Amino acid sequence: MSEGAAKKEEKPRKFQAIRGTRDLLPPETVLWNRVEQTAHEVFATFGFGEIRLPIFEPTELFARAVGGETDIVSKEMYTFPERIEDHPELAREMQQLMAKPPSPLELAVHLSGASHAFLSLRPEATASVCRAYIEHGMQQLPQPVKLYYMGPMFRRERPQKGRYRQFCQIGAEVLGGSDAPAIDAEVIEMVMTFFDRLELQGVQLDINSIGDRNCRPKYVELLRAELLKVKDKLGPDSQRRIETNPLRVLDSKLESEQGIIATLPRNADYLCEACAAHYAAVKHQLEMRGVIYRENWRLVRGLDYYMRTTFEITAQGLGSQNAVCGGGRYDGLVELLGGPPTKGIGFAIGEDRLILSLQESGKAPAQQGRDVYIAWMGERAHATAIRAAKDLRKAGFSVELPPVEQKFGKALGQADKLGAKYALILGDNEVSEGLWTLKTLADGSQQKLTEPQLLDFLRKL
Ligand code: HAM
Repeated sequence: MSEGAAKKEEKPRKFQAIRGTRDLLPPETVLWNRVEQTAHEVFATFGFGEIRLPIFEPTELFARAVGGETDIVSKEMYTFPERIEDHPELAREMQQLMAKPPSPLELAVHLSGASHAFLSLRPEATASVCRAYIEHGMQQLPQPVKLYYMGPMFRRERPQKGRYRQFCQIGAEVLGGSDAPAIDAEVIEMVMTFFDRLELQGVQLDINSIGDRNCRPKYVELLRAELLKVKDKLGPDSQRRIETNPLRVLDSKLESEQGIIATLPRNADYLCEACAAHYAAVKHQLEMRGVIYRENWRLVRGLDYYMRTTFEITAQGLGSQNAVCGGGRYDGLVELLGGPPTKGIGFAIGEDRLILSLQESGKAPAQQGRDVYIAWMGERAHATAIRAAKDLRKAGFSVELPPVEQKFGKALGQADKLGAKYALILGDNEVSEGLWTLKTLADGSQQKLTEPQLLDFLRKL
């Protein structure tokens, strides 16, 4: 290799965040914190406690809970073998498989008996909450157990506005106890209260009931039979779904399919007696709480664990990815994961989308401004400035203390750029007189104050 080529190689690679992931910077993070703080406050008023969960779990947990045939599990999970060096046979088999890259689930299932050796970054957290409920014997606690969580989820989707490969959810789950319709309604009331507190604009709640083990299979078969009659008029995706999951056809956004879908049988007309009564009671309970909803018979969710109540909430300013929250009832999921028969209902909010919508409607802080910029000159003033900064910060004010001396003109310019409300001017005169100059940057007015007067003045604002 020539010397020149070697030098070229040394040039450090320029790293960028991976497609579909992003950095959240100030001042946007101020809004993220405000949203999360509001969630903590509102959810606590409904008696929910926070659960913090791992961000990876055995692949099998998601395959079983969310469903092996769903897009989320079959196409979108980030799956990796646990300590491949512990499984040399896996490494060999994987190399062979990689000749024709399989889906993560195919990979996990194909390597039979070894699927426990595969882990996935969580695409959602309901499965983990149920796993934790079983693992910690939470059925012994007073029921129902009400938990909420927030944090990153991972799905390998095609990135676009409002759709990321790493995104954040704020979710809540109610586990155990009864399946009283008032629980469904209260969970929905809680998320609507949260959105209301944030002044989220254009909020629209859609609800549906997709039946239970009793009546849903019959409806799905009826739907499949009706879809087969019009198969030729459907696009390739819907044609495939007639076999794999006919309910997902209802989700189609294809213009050419809308007319056909409108004529299909509706789930709500085919609910068994118990499910119909439950659905009617949920609607009544929502009305009692003053929650405005729209019935949407085409609302099907992309995860297999749902039964009876399902819901989705959309908000303003999000384009095609406008679902800001999705949820529903999942009685039986805990049992499916090896726990006792347990009722369950919950939701997850897409926090990235929630933030986008708040920003679009002008609810975002423009800049993370400082309260006070301390413009100091001279050694004695520096000592006073350090003490003043300590006292002001202790009192809860945001203070910028420049590390090196600056001319007052430059310091005031800097204070302006940082969006400071006040500049505290400390020079020799101020220090010897014990009277500090406080300049209000918005109007340029100045006043002389002793230190206690200054704290008093700022506190009263
Ligand atoms: P989900 O509908 O798959 O449900 O996701 C909930 C919300 O997460 C969506 O409405 C959306 O706002 C957000 N979201 C999903 N994927 C992305 C993405 N790629 N980028 C940005 N945001 C996204 C669940 O995850 C269920 N675990 C909800 C639940 C909890 N059901 C019962 N309990």
